[in-house]
Amino acid sequence: MPSLSELTPAFAARVDGLDAANASEADVAFIREAMIDHCVVVLPDQVLDGDQQARFAGLFGELDSYSKMSGEYARGMRKDLLQVSNLGEDGKPVGPNDRRRLLDMGNRFWHTDASFKHVPAHLSMLYGITVTREGGETQFADMRAAWDNLDDDRKELVEGLAAEHSSTTARRFLGFNDFHEENPAVTDRVTHDLVRTLPETGRKTLYLSSHADHIVGMPVPAGRLLLAELTEHATRPGNVFTHTWQQGDLVIWDNRCTMHRSCRYRADRETRELRRASTIAPEFAAMDAAQVTVPAWKIEAAA
Ligand SMILES: [Fe+2]
Repeated sequence: MPSLSELTPAFAARVDGLDAANASEADVAFIREAMIDHCVVVLPDQVLDGDQQARFAGLFGELDSYSKMSGEYARGMRKDLLQVSNLGEDGKPVGPNDRRRLLDMGNRFWHTDASFKHVPAHLSMLYGITVTREGGETQFADMRAAWDNLDDDRKELVEGLAAEHSSTTARRFLGFNDFHEENPAVTDRVTHDLVRTLPETGRKTLYLSSHADHIVGMPVPAGRLLLAELTEHATRPGNVFTHTWQQGDLVIWDNRCTMHRSCRYRADRETRELRRASTIAPEFAAMDAAQVTVPAWKIEAAA
């Protein structure tokens, strides 16, 4: 019988006594229940190959597909799995100028998975194959608490606004400009509400991500400053849970109510291999940007 212990009150929890490779319906129900109140759940001591991980994730919903991502991300995995690794073809850490390593640095910005897609991610499940001795943690910010703790005037300003997301936003910031423009998975831009309501609890969350480029209908500088202000607010230390990886950890998080980022580590000395599967959140599909109108007072208030 699985058991739950809290790591951070009402945000992150650990579940023991559950074998994801042989999960029963009752196990899946236990995790679903745990994810209503908690946005991050850690399952230690798992032994999962790719097929088993995809099967387990698939018990929670339709899996996101990475088949349209550029070859830089496919990395020989099934189309519904994403590999995070600092190793090259020769099994050794890649150098500091390796394009894949530099692109992966985008994960060090606070983000939610696949917010640049029309149908973004719901649950992400990241499995620790080889973990670092030092650094390389994953941090999570509670976006329900971030909303709850906003001042009333900020709540009034932000509610009803929407941001345009793109997979190139964070990477352009890192200096990449040579994206394959013909690949719509890379260049598509989608619009998502900044404030969303979780159907299970009715709680509101801030939906932010480093993939968010600007606020629709607002001058770009004002919108970007507002996004930066909200991100700073959401990621204050008291609102963040840090997961230090152990081999065999399966960490599950709800992208609808968290942001996350990976932490720095010595990629020349250490090996970090993780594998991700994600379910999708059709209930939060992108909206039509043409339907968004921003009152003049909000533009004034945000500037
Ligand atoms: Fe991520």
